[in-house]
Amino acid sequence: METKTFRNYEAVDVKAAVKEHYRKMRKNQTYDYVQRMHKKYLNFDKPMGLWEAMGHLNDLIDVSDPDLDLPNVQHLIQSAEAIRADNRPDWMQLTGLIHDLGKVMFLWGSDEDGTSQDEQWGTVGDVFVVGCELPDTCVYPEFNALNPDMQDERYNTPTGIYEKGCGLDNLNLAWGHDEYLFQVLNNHEANKLPAEAMVMIRYHSFYPWHTGGSYKPLLNDTDAKYLELIKDFNKYDLYTKSQKIYELEEVRDYYQPIAEKYLGTGPILW
Ligand SMILES: [Fe+2]
Ligand SMILES: [Fe+2]
Repeated sequence: METKTFRNYEAVDVKAAVKEHYRKMRKNQTYDYVQRMHKKYLNFDKPMGLWEAMGHLNDLIDVSDPDLDLPNVQHLIQSAEAIRADNRPDWMQLTGLIHDLGKVMFLWGSDEDGTSQDEQWGTVGDVFVVGCELPDTCVYPEFNALNPDMQDERYNTPTGIYEKGCGLDNLNLAWGHDEYLFQVLNNHEANKLPAEAMVMIRYHSFYPWHTGGSYKPLLNDTDAKYLELIKDFNKYDLYTKSQKIYELEEVRDYYQPIAEKYLGTGPILW
């Protein structure tokens, strides 16, 4: 039997769209762009319930993912069900179910920000640090030179604008669904998710760090614990992708009480 490999960006059948996505992402995600997106999207003025948000991900296919051409809500349910099948804690099952929910940004996104249905370079894809040098552990490192910050001497050194050893929580990452959902939940009063869940949500796309081993001069002791959490979570994010289709309504009975336990019953402010 042929074994399936994941994250193979060299495979001939990987759509040119994936590569084009990364070209635009690398070129446009500058330090200034990220500051603008924080101002623009972190206003928390749009109320929407969890299940409504899940439903909207039925309309979104992640263009950056070479392994999945199903609506994103299927990936969320597949991840959650795999965590549940391993008898992992309820909060981690819920984390699997919601970890990509920040992609609902496409509902109020725009082509020029890369946050729409058609232009996703400001929503999805592996992220990197802005404000310091791009490492060659980024997927398609040949695109690093396209980023204008790499010509700017404030930003093009290994630590850039950051203090040595300042730690992950003090870095600015490329703008996308991870940081968006983290900030939305951080702002959500009823949020009782443990800190571990928040780490999984915030850093799951940070491949040059968690898989590439880059950014060592910027890390602190806490980040070693973060890395263990991400490695644990990542196997469910990555290796559970299959063609099995679920109905959201089918799994809702099981997950709704867990969601209410950790996120309350009211809407979330996006
Ligand atoms: Fe994600
Ligand atoms: Fe995911």
